[in-house]
Amino acid sequence: MTGTFAVKLEEKRYLPDPRFKATAWTPDYTRAYQEFMRDPDAFWDRIARELVWFGPWDRVREWNHPYAKWFVNGKMNITYNCLDRHVTSERKDKPALVWRGEGGEERRLTYDGLYREVMRFANGLKSLGVGKGDRVCIYMPLVPEQVVAMLACARIGAVHSVVFGGFGPDALAMRINDAEAKVLITADVGYRRGKAVPLREIAKEALTHTPCVEKVVVLRRGTPAVDLDPAREVDYADLCREAAPDCPAETMDAEDPLFILYTSGSTGAPKGIVHSCGGYAVGTYYTARHDFDIKETDVFWCTADPGWITGHSYVVYGPLAVGTTVVIVEGTPDYPDPGVYWHLVQDLGVTIFYTAPTAIRMFMRYGDEWPAKYDLSTLRVLGSVGEPLNPEAFEWYYHHIGGGRCPVVDTWWQTETGMHIITTMIGEAMKPGFAGKPIPGAVVDVVDRQGNPVPPGTGGFLVIREPWPAMLRTVYRNDERYRTYWETIPGCYTAGDLAVKDKEGYIMILGRADDLIIVAGHNIGTAEVESALVSHDAVAEAAVIGKPDPLKGNVIKAFVTLRVGVSPGDGLSAELARHVRKSLGPVAVPAEIEYVDRLPKTRSGKIMRRVLKARELGIDPGDISTLEE
Ligand code: WTA
Repeated sequence: MTGTFAVKLEEKRYLPDPRFKATAWTPDYTRAYQEFMRDPDAFWDRIARELVWFGPWDRVREWNHPYAKWFVNGKMNITYNCLDRHVTSERKDKPALVWRGEGGEERRLTYDGLYREVMRFANGLKSLGVGKGDRVCIYMPLVPEQVVAMLACARIGAVHSVVFGGFGPDALAMRINDAEAKVLITADVGYRRGKAVPLREIAKEALTHTPCVEKVVVLRRGTPAVDLDPAREVDYADLCREAAPDCPAETMDAEDPLFILYTSGSTGAPKGIVHSCGGYAVGTYYTARHDFDIKETDVFWCTADPGWITGHSYVVYGPLAVGTTVVIVEGTPDYPDPGVYWHLVQDLGVTIFYTAPTAIRMFMRYGDEWPAKYDLSTLRVLGSVGEPLNPEAFEWYYHHIGGGRCPVVDTWWQTETGMHIITTMIGEAMKPGFAGKPIPGAVVDVVDRQGNPVPPGTGGFLVIREPWPAMLRTVYRNDERYRTYWETIPGCYTAGDLAVKDKEGYIMILGRADDLIIVAGHNIGTAEVESALVSHDAVAEAAVIGKPDPLKGNVIKAFVTLRVGVSPGDGLSAELARHVRKSLGPVAVPAEIEYVDRLPKTRSGKIMRRVLKARELGIDPGDISTLEE
């Protein structure tokens, strides 16, 4: 089995106005790509020099398969590049963060203001005993303090692990324990659809299983302010007030870890993806600037939460390193009504808008009249990330949001890659359904199981052939899992996605090749959901699959066998859904539960989700020779 298959490809294309190409940071994709391929080290050396370093690197890269080092022995701090570098220029008083709450409240922080807040909070963390290399968990709503907390950690060399505020107590506890976080930063509440989400209460529940946590910093938003437990909890505002104002950026080695971010694995517990300071800074700075073509006057809105990699790289580090104005919004795209995002674009003069296909498909469903009510003429670039942007969604986005004027950059990348890897650079022809080509800086291919390139029109495995600066360095405390990425297909980094190229080299992403399910752009591991189901008394075994959904891309369908003597009576499905929600959070709740007598397994006892999925979709399950009787 080579793992390859034939795919029928779309041929449609859109050419952007030639003015985009004329003024783009990468005005000629082909030339830039050739320049990169001629001398990759010289290419990255030139980009890295656009940032401020405390000490030079000896070599651009050291590749010792499967381990890479970038900007070897270079010294720097990413926050110096996101803050100090701007406050000594005319960007000092430029808005860095513009925050909007659900009720329309606004807060603005200039680069200077953000710089000061970060330094105070960094000193506050120091006063709690946090130092270089210590892990800090951040479990917060999307407020400026979430960004401040990340930057404050990076400023002093502490390694942050941000956990998305939609996760439940078990998911949070697992992540805190795996990283052995010393401090947790949280808030009393987040706001979602007009309701308060009790983050601190959820955190408290998690903290009953996390002996490593010494202190909890609580941002108190509600009135009257909640009482804190003086033994363990510290008020965010008090901590800042009592801290010294100046905190110079710690000198970090380029290879020192910057953060850990958990992502679902196809088996077992989530993986703590480790990113390092130097290469990540260079990779996110470069891709933010070139792929979105950010100019000095742009207003940049990436709708992701910093709890995901998209937020790390394209809400926080990339755009701030570039020095743009970043919009952050706490809330959901259809509350209080489905026009809320377009209202914000109009109000804030957003010029670059970056969101997920699931949101675009939701907007499509609500109808063209919502965006039509607002003036979206400030928009000049649209971006997409998280799952394939299907041609229908591309068309709608391009015409109804972009007015047929704005290039759409569909960016393919992963938590592990840290930065964009594939997109259609601004100015190049766009093909609906295709993400595009490898960015100048990445070497990508579609191959069979042995690593041989497959011809155009044949589907295969998406791989990256050469290391890149923002690549993951390891999986925290599980280097073996890290090596798997580079050892599955000989010589390549295996992304775990299926893809196909056309004759011109455009790449279409077809979806995951493994047991990950992408629900509304969020990566969910089958294993975590199954173990949450099995932790319920009624359940003997569970298998979950992704089932295609017109809105969310996929929804989770669970197949469950019940314990002897239990019958799927009234309300069991609702009860199981509640159970998963409580344990893992709303993102992981199955949309459908089917009770079965037994699950298909291999002779060695592994559940064959592929067979369940084939049966569900009425397709050929492929090789079932290992299926037990
Ligand atoms: C999927 C998100 C198609 C893909 C940045 C990948 C995409 C996984 C795209 C990583 C895209 C991301 N087109 N699929 N433009 N972008 N994916 O780690 O399956 O949350 O492997 O990173 O999302 O998800 P992650």
